[in-house]
Amino acid sequence: QELQMNLEQIEKNGYDHFMLKEIYEQPNVIKDTYRGRLHANEGIIKMAGVEDNLQKFLNAERILIIACGTSWHAGLVAEYILEEFTRIPVEVEYASEFRYRNPIIRPNDVVIAISQSGETADTLAAIKLAKEHGAFVFGVCNVVGSSISRETHAGAYTHAGPEIGVASTKAFTTQITVLTLIALRLAQAKGTMSKSDFHRHLQELELIPAKVQEALQTNEVAKAIAAVYKDAPNCLYLGRGYNFPVALEGALKLKEISYIHAEGYPAAEMKHGPIALIDEQMPVVVIAPKQEHYDKVVSNIQEIKSRSGKIIAVVTQGDEQVKALADHVIEVPYTIDALSPLLTTIPLQLLSYHIAVMRNCNVDQPRNLAKSVTVE
Ligand code: G6P
Repeated sequence: QELQMNLEQIEKNGYDHFMLKEIYEQPNVIKDTYRGRLHANEGIIKMAGVEDNLQKFLNAERILIIACGTSWHAGLVAEYILEEFTRIPVEVEYASEFRYRNPIIRPNDVVIAISQSGETADTLAAIKLAKEHGAFVFGVCNVVGSSISRETHAGAYTHAGPEIGVASTKAFTTQITVLTLIALRLAQAKGTMSKSDFHRHLQELELIPAKVQEALQTNEVAKAIAAVYKDAPNCLYLGRGYNFPVALEGALKLKEISYIHAEGYPAAEMKHGPIALIDEQMPVVVIAPKQEHYDKVVSNIQEIKSRSGKIIAVVTQGDEQVKALADHVIEVPYTIDALSPLLTTIPLQLLSYHIAVMRNCNVDQPRNLAKSVTVE
């Protein structure tokens, strides 16, 4: 028992929890994930699993993404990125729904299965179904040699290293990294992105680890905000475009480890329901980086403010407009729109972590949850 505890201390490397350690590992593991694949100066992306099957991707009439939990959220981010960059239609499905609803799967569909553990039962079953229908199935897994990595036709590993905390953090950002690399490679091959945009994205991707490092400096601010809202019974997360899935993921993190009821919504959908919940007791986390739709998000913030909701805004460094409206702001560095989830998600991980710690929750092993769900 004592030996076990000591071992765990060593593994935590000075951090109080695995989750916090894993949050802080993100600059390095994102770099590990693109190392050897991204050659920004040469304008080359090299991924064997994609290169070997390039024609299949290029002939795809549709890309179907299947996953569960946080991996499903990474899939949603990838939907926005893949469609924007490659103009291939993308659908994202919960593996558990897909496998039981007699889905339409055509031989020209490319199926991408995303799974940290590579063992999720529903995802595995969905893959088998897709294969039976003749689709090409590509895996994005973290655990090397896992069932899903063996069951898929090809794939690309994330290099997040072991993720111990049940709430997924570094797996999410490395999944987005891999899927962005795939989208960029396909855009290059299809000619759906201008050369200059392609180079700009490659250069910017290389700057992401340093910017994530900077985003981690929001830790103290996140902790201070956590102290204010730790007893809130509910919390709403709003985002648009690339940051809509980040809102879902932020809410999931809070639910998972702090047991506070939280919902993520596309900011503009707020008026179709959640706005009814807003009063002075309701913290609303708004992801509002300076990018496309910024003005729209600003007007969503005004709607919350006029109903006395408490606004916690994730903004781009130097922002002034949102700052003037929000009760709290968390600043992250600027990056191009498609890459912003890699930065905006960081303070949301930290916020839920600190709230859970302050509520004395078991951060690394929340009640009722398992790291990998190998049964239905
Ligand atoms: C469980 C974990 C989540 C994870 C989900 C999917 O619910 O608690 O953190 O996102 O399974 O797992 P996978 O290993 O397939 O990504």
